[in-house]
Amino acid sequence: MILPEVTREKKVDVLIVGAGAAGIRTAIALHHYNISCLLVSKREFGDAHTIMASGGINAALGSLDPEDNWAIHAADTLREGHFINDPKIVEHVCKYAPEAVKELDNWGCPFNKTETNSINQRFFGAQSFRRTCFVGDRTGKAILDALVDKAKSLNIPCEDGIYIFQILKEKGRVVGALGLDKKHKEFIRFKSSCVVLAAGGYASIYERSSSRPDENLGDTIHLSYQAGAKLMDMEMVQFHPTGMTAPESYIGRLVTEAVRGEGGYLFNSLGDRFMKEYSPEKMELDARDEVARAIAKEIEKGNGTAGDGVYLDITHKDAEFIKKRLPKMYNRFMELGSDIAKEAIEVAPTCHYSMGGAEVDLQSGATNVPGLFAVGEAISGMHGANRLGGNSLIETLVLGNTFGQRIAETLDFLENEGPSAGSEQNRNEYLQTLKGCEEPLALVQKTKKIMWKHAGIIRKETFLRKGLEEIQELKEEWNACSKPIEKLSFDKIWQNLDLRNVLLSAELVLKTALYRRESRGAHYREDFPKTEENWKKNILVSKGEKGQFQLETKSQGPVSPEVEKALQRNYSLSYHQLE
Ligand code: FUM
Repeated sequence: MILPEVTREKKVDVLIVGAGAAGIRTAIALHHYNISCLLVSKREFGDAHTIMASGGINAALGSLDPEDNWAIHAADTLREGHFINDPKIVEHVCKYAPEAVKELDNWGCPFNKTETNSINQRFFGAQSFRRTCFVGDRTGKAILDALVDKAKSLNIPCEDGIYIFQILKEKGRVVGALGLDKKHKEFIRFKSSCVVLAAGGYASIYERSSSRPDENLGDTIHLSYQAGAKLMDMEMVQFHPTGMTAPESYIGRLVTEAVRGEGGYLFNSLGDRFMKEYSPEKMELDARDEVARAIAKEIEKGNGTAGDGVYLDITHKDAEFIKKRLPKMYNRFMELGSDIAKEAIEVAPTCHYSMGGAEVDLQSGATNVPGLFAVGEAISGMHGANRLGGNSLIETLVLGNTFGQRIAETLDFLENEGPSAGSEQNRNEYLQTLKGCEEPLALVQKTKKIMWKHAGIIRKETFLRKGLEEIQELKEEWNACSKPIEKLSFDKIWQNLDLRNVLLSAELVLKTALYRRESRGAHYREDFPKTEENWKKNILVSKGEKGQFQLETKSQGPVSPEVEKALQRNYSLSYHQLE
């Protein structure tokens, strides 16, 4: 049993929630300004979701295609985002991407190199040139390892097993956060001058997801929404075309886009390379939303495999090439009993990334709540309606660095010893209102099924409304079986917080998906199949002063002349270059 009381307190200038690439890169930037920061994470240090990123990181280095440059990278990103990305964020990330990748190379990240010792680059979907730098097909893990080593060398502290579940505010500004501490099984309060949310997105609110089941459950969505921050593009959820279909414990896990980037073909069960019907030029390397929808349509037409997928085949490539360029995929499938150099594998779309998140200021990652910042998958803006493969890792590095510097330069230090009596009272009252049920995981599973069925790759009003109804019923079910937390075990409290976050994220996705009456990027409405010029805008949601759900829209500003020129040139990848 755990009493609803804080038994440990800690003071730090900047509390960073999440120790993936975005959080660590922010901490490294802060460290250079001698700001005391603490990284806290639910998972073990070095085991963040970043390690699940496989195929690569984008930077217009031009190692193989010298014509490439940052403006073309930005144009590809905007086109893939269907022009609701924030052009300023996009241009900034693309401009500083080469510097960020070279820095990582200097910090020991073992990038694959060309014969002339440049960082090697591979094709990835919807990109005009070979721009994706890689470490085999374990790029995320290699990047995180390099960042963890760097953070350790700088003595940046990290506490793992901490679940931050409530932002503390006083007189409108953030003064810290409340967390659950797994190691000591207690509540902990952090007093801090600001909080940076870097704890990922909400792709795990779907039944099939490339995230592990206990990550990307919408923690940052709940934290920012409850604190009063505006969330943008919540309806934009990316379905990666190629997730695993078996065995049970691997369903949804990523089969990296690098398999197609290195030349893999997709076939339906009739043996047709069906992408020629949907995208004859770009074929398997069209944008993720296009390929995922094509696969979903093939399955719907009855052309799917026994495991409800399609075939991904790279057997026409040399076995040594496959082992060298795709070692993780090769070894994983070998362990599961199939040799990808000899046989095709079954794949199906899986929820992979959430483009929605906190709306932030480009300069600093500041949300509209004083003292609350966000970075990485926790924010919106870079990817618009669909993310270009390879752009998530680069966003974490560039913006982590930029935001960290800016936060350090402008930090408004708490004058006294932290939250005063007023917020002490709020904190205790808050803890006493926490409650939960004995079987939260069953309700999390039900939510994931609802989302897959009603707000998946192909959406329509009737489905979305049904989804909302079912989420409402689940909330009532949860309420009815809930009891005060002192009656629950530590693990059950933890799981109820997950349920709370999942339910809110699901509701926000459904409401915004219902509101956007057009199709754009990853958001495909069967009942509104066209992309409409008057919908070229973002949907923002926030919690009103009386706790009500608020919705507004905004339009993005113009792109720079360099990027406009690149857009006009209309560079585009042809898959056939690989053949
Ligand atoms: O398929 C992949 O390797 C995924 C990369 C990404 O999402 O950026």
